Amino acid sequence: MNEQRIKEILNMEPDHRYVEIHGWIRTVRTSKNVTFLEVNDGSCLKNLQVVLDHQRKELADLVPSLRTGASVSVQGDIAPSLGKNQKLELNATAVALIGPSPEDYPLQKKRHSFEFLREIAHLRPRTNTFGAVARVRNAVCYGIHSFFQERGFIYVHTPIISSNDCEGAGETFQVTTLPLKDIPVKENGEVDFTKDFFGKKASLTVSGQLEGEVYALALTNVYTFGPTFRAENSNTSRHLAEFWMVEPEMAFCDIHGNMDLAEEFLKHIISYVLDHCTEDMNFFDTWVEKGVTASLHHVLDADFARITYDEAVDHLEKADRSFEFKPFWGADLQSEHEKYLTEEVFRKPVIVTGYPKEIKAFYMKQNDDGRTVAAMDILVPRLGEIIGGSERESDRTKLETRIKEMGLPKEDYWWYLDLRSYGTVPHAGFGLGLERFIQYITGMQNIRDVIPFPRAVNTAEF
Ligand code: 4AD
Ligand code: MG
Repeated sequence: MNEQRIKEILNMEPDHRYVEIHGWIRTVRTSKNVTFLEVNDGSCLKNLQVVLDHQRKELADLVPSLRTGASVSVQGDIAPSLGKNQKLELNATAVALIGPSPEDYPLQKKRHSFEFLREIAHLRPRTNTFGAVARVRNAVCYGIHSFFQERGFIYVHTPIISSNDCEGAGETFQVTTLPLKDIPVKENGEVDFTKDFFGKKASLTVSGQLEGEVYALALTNVYTFGPTFRAENSNTSRHLAEFWMVEPEMAFCDIHGNMDLAEEFLKHIISYVLDHCTEDMNFFDTWVEKGVTASLHHVLDADFARITYDEAVDHLEKADRSFEFKPFWGADLQSEHEKYLTEEVFRKPVIVTGYPKEIKAFYMKQNDDGRTVAAMDILVPRLGEIIGGSERESDRTKLETRIKEMGLPKEDYWWYLDLRSYGTVPHAGFGLGLERFIQYITGMQNIRDVIPFPRAVNTAEF
């Protein structure tokens, strides 16, 4: 294993100490007497400048085979650099090509489009942008865990294969071992799932929430964090078929506690990333979304706006503009509406509560007005919804009624309903889409560029 990473070396004093590094050549510049290599090992955005003095014959002989994309190891001493872009450089005493030197490396020094880079997702982490996204994503995950761990939440692993559709939107991917060419059917012509692997219909989970509730009603505060799957046929810059979601669930907590925690949580991970990924965030600020870090500092200092769905619709109806989707009470908020509220009305994140029950999932606590539920969505500028959550219905009879009204199979939810018979308590939780959050803080336009290997309609290469 390589002991010394370029990030550490760049922070050293140029005191001629001897080091060995490993990495990939980003660029090669050759003049008569010297060759400069920019070498990157992914530990940070910056490259280390390696200088090959042509007076050393064995180095000069190697120069023609040093190309962009090649993997190398370099030994040498760290010297002050005369160049204005770096304070130090590595004076090579020995350079070795680790693999063969590529002659047709697809990543050249010019700027490639993100569309093109999606076609070479196996090489794109070697670009500045995708290296930075990977490091920021890593830091966000660490920040998520630190937030919950510091507050005594228990990390629970909920299943990937599930037999319920938590959000009830019918967007599940089925999991089956039934032979597609010879599917067993019952007398009435329906598929006979008793012959399937699990003896019943199963799918990839759309959310770990229902199982999270089971553990919250035993351990009080829990969170689950893992991949979730939705067969949404929407080819947008905000939807993936496979995305990661972090879902805390708290017993003895109502919608207000839920909002408070969500706001504190978002601020924690934003400041964690600003503190730990300064160089990468400055890169996004310069090259991807100008002003993004200032806008995040503004969010840290602001109290999120908190409004009801009724108030949101009011704002939209009074807006002096025409939306593509005309807002009216009862309709879900469209992304253009969310943008208007966050970017023009409040200019900061907005928490909307009290949505009409018809447009929300069956498990949400029904409000006394009989028409809304204790839902909460958090909307942010540029992106719209990044968090969806609610207080949960804790009354068995009301929950059963809602399941029936919505035409859901009650027998699938027997254990979920049991929680309301045995020690039921007010409880609440929410889900943050990890990729939406990364899009938000980096300013990356397309969600497919903030997950290493995107899964979306017609996209499952790599
Ligand atoms: O609003 P959603 O559907 O809420 C739930 O799944 C709840 N069970 C969460 C809970 O209360 N525990 O999804 C939560 C978040 C959304 O706000 C969004 O950020 C993200 O998940 N999300 C997606 N991200 C990428 N691609 C998709 N197709 C997404 N669908 C939802
Ligand atoms: Mg939602």
